[in-house]
Amino acid sequence: MADAARPKRVFSGIQPSGNLTLGNYLGALKRFVQMQESGFETIYCMVDLHAITTWQEPEDLRNATRQAAAAFMASGINPERSILFNQSQVPAHTELAWIFNCVARMGWLGRMTQFKDKAGKNRENASVGLFAYPALMAADILVYHATHVPVGEDQKQHLELTRDVAIKFNHDFKVDFFPVIEPVIKGTATRVMSLRDGQQKMSKSDPSDMSRINLTDNEDTIRKKLRRARTDSEPISDSLQGLEGRPEARNLINIYAALAEIQPDEVIRQFAGCLFSEFKPALIDLAVATIAPVTEKMNGFMRDPAEIDRILGVGADNAASIAEPILHETYEIVGMIRSRTM
Ligand code: AMP
Ligand code: TRP
Repeated sequence: MADAARPKRVFSGIQPSGNLTLGNYLGALKRFVQMQESGFETIYCMVDLHAITTWQEPEDLRNATRQAAAAFMASGINPERSILFNQSQVPAHTELAWIFNCVARMGWLGRMTQFKDKAGKNRENASVGLFAYPALMAADILVYHATHVPVGEDQKQHLELTRDVAIKFNHDFKVDFFPVIEPVIKGTATRVMSLRDGQQKMSKSDPSDMSRINLTDNEDTIRKKLRRARTDSEPISDSLQGLEGRPEARNLINIYAALAEIQPDEVIRQFAGCLFSEFKPALIDLAVATIAPVTEKMNGFMRDPAEIDRILGVGADNAASIAEPILHETYEIVGMIRSRTM
């Protein structure tokens, strides 16, 4: 099918490997909600199989998966309108990932910067899963014939690999079966930076908790972390160009813009000439006003873990009913006999 003729279908995932951060909220969750509200068919997944490519304590993983689901719902994902589930409940993902392991090349995966960063110096000791991670991610997306994938900037290279996998599969088997997806990396918060170092991405795996705002942080903690966020002693310039070479300053302006849903140059217009000691109280009030209701709703969902599990189960049933026929057809294209009667 020509890609332009395919119905739009959105897929994205988040690893349940710790607390979700303000980066996840602004760079991913808010965008996921916008896509749901725009009337697309939306499928969102807690990628627990990706999480275990690095060590996870089993009880922590279960809890983080429920927390992530609670964060989706607290941010506005409605499980009646979007499919919400955890990856391991739909085995079609891993089945297609195996086929993609045989399509993707070692060289492609070896060039992935996330692998290089996470494996560090001791590559021999990284799990095979960490290396194959992008093939599973391609399978997550393509097993639904998804066409649009909203993510933060750090996932761009993985989405390019997803395109390469689809192109090579279609080429090798002489079919036009998998869509060549569109990455959706848009908005002011595609890369929220650490509060301690404007050159590092805000990440749930940063050893310093002061580097990030977690969606589970209470008001006092949010206030304290933003008060202590690194800045410089220069006033806010009157243009965005004036913030070049000041990554911490630029990051706080971007966070404000994303929270207020305005453009960064509008923030500059409002605060030009102010010192960060004057800007920060406004940022703190805005951050608290935005995040506190999300945290409160999350806590509400977390009081009923059985209900979260039920929602994920229903989501997984719905996801499987889309994925299984596509997986079945893939096996046929590859040349596998499919003759079971049940
Ligand atoms: P992860 O937490 O790595 O599973 O990421 C889940 C989603 O959040 C992906 O789309 C990421 O690109 C996005 N994301 C993670 N950290 C950030 C950040 N600091 N800024 C913007 N987006 C982010
Ligand atoms: N690798 C993504 C991340 O760490 C998570 C992910 C897994 C994902 N599968 C996906 C994102 C499919 C988008 C689509 O952020």
